[in-house]
Amino acid sequence: MAETIDYFTEARSVEAVNARMGADTAPRLAQVMASLVKHLHAFAKDVELTQEEWGIAIDFLTRTGQMSDGNRQEFILLSDVLGFSMLVDAISHRRPSGATENTVLGPFHVADAPRYPMGTNISLDGKGESCLFRGHVRDGDGAPISGASIDVWCDNAEGFYDVQQPGIQPQWNNRGIFTTGSDGAYSFRGIRPVAYPIPADGPVGQMLAALGRHPNRPAHMHFLVSAPGYETIVTHTFVEGDRWLTSDAVFGVKASLIATMEAGTDTAWISAFDFVMTRIG
Ligand code: BEZ
Ligand code: FE
Repeated sequence: MAETIDYFTEARSVEAVNARMGADTAPRLAQVMASLVKHLHAFAKDVELTQEEWGIAIDFLTRTGQMSDGNRQEFILLSDVLGFSMLVDAISHRRPSGATENTVLGPFHVADAPRYPMGTNISLDGKGESCLFRGHVRDGDGAPISGASIDVWCDNAEGFYDVQQPGIQPQWNNRGIFTTGSDGAYSFRGIRPVAYPIPADGPVGQMLAALGRHPNRPAHMHFLVSAPGYETIVTHTFVEGDRWLTSDAVFGVKASLIATMEAGTDTAWISAFDFVMTRIG
């Protein structure tokens, strides 16, 4: 009698692939890959994916990879516009209520920005509406955190980061790192950030257009707040009233991150926001 072999069929496609996994596969890798295969196959069956459509997808992914290099990361952009970056971040940073929430890092952070004393103006190109950013860094009990590093960056008045316009904007335009003293207070001057489109000249931009989606992000200031013994906060403050707050291309907006923007005296605007850090462990 012929031996019965469980060859690949449409009905048992998931089992056929996952049965190949080696017994010594690292447990977490085995769990992640088995689930990935299960959901990927379910997706193809759900939409009855055609070979032509899969060819288009392969071409899209190939172009996404080809567009990516040390400066441009089209795959992260894809993850961002699919809401996947925000989902993974949410799963990884479930914080107690009252703690400052995270949002996407984005592609424009540059390590080792200049360190400045509190109050310094980080706008080096002289463009835009002046704005004072201020507030405190505290723990969950309201105590000030001394020695917290506050790394900030934002676009210029025309909606571009310095790294998008080398030779046009001064290096380190609208970036800087500040360190809190014993009162936990921070303050720096810059410009009122403006809304801007994410880079839309690649496959991700084409996908957004095909889906009838705009590429815009509401105006925001990026903050990376770190202190020994506390969970690092990667976040932004958003400018209240911005027209794109409810349709951010990368789903980065959280109600708790919308900061006030009030008319100032020394500067055109004042934006106040307090950061609440969570202890590690
Ligand atoms: C940003 O805010 O800098 C950003 C975030 C995600 C994608 C593109 C830009
Ligand atoms: Fe940004």
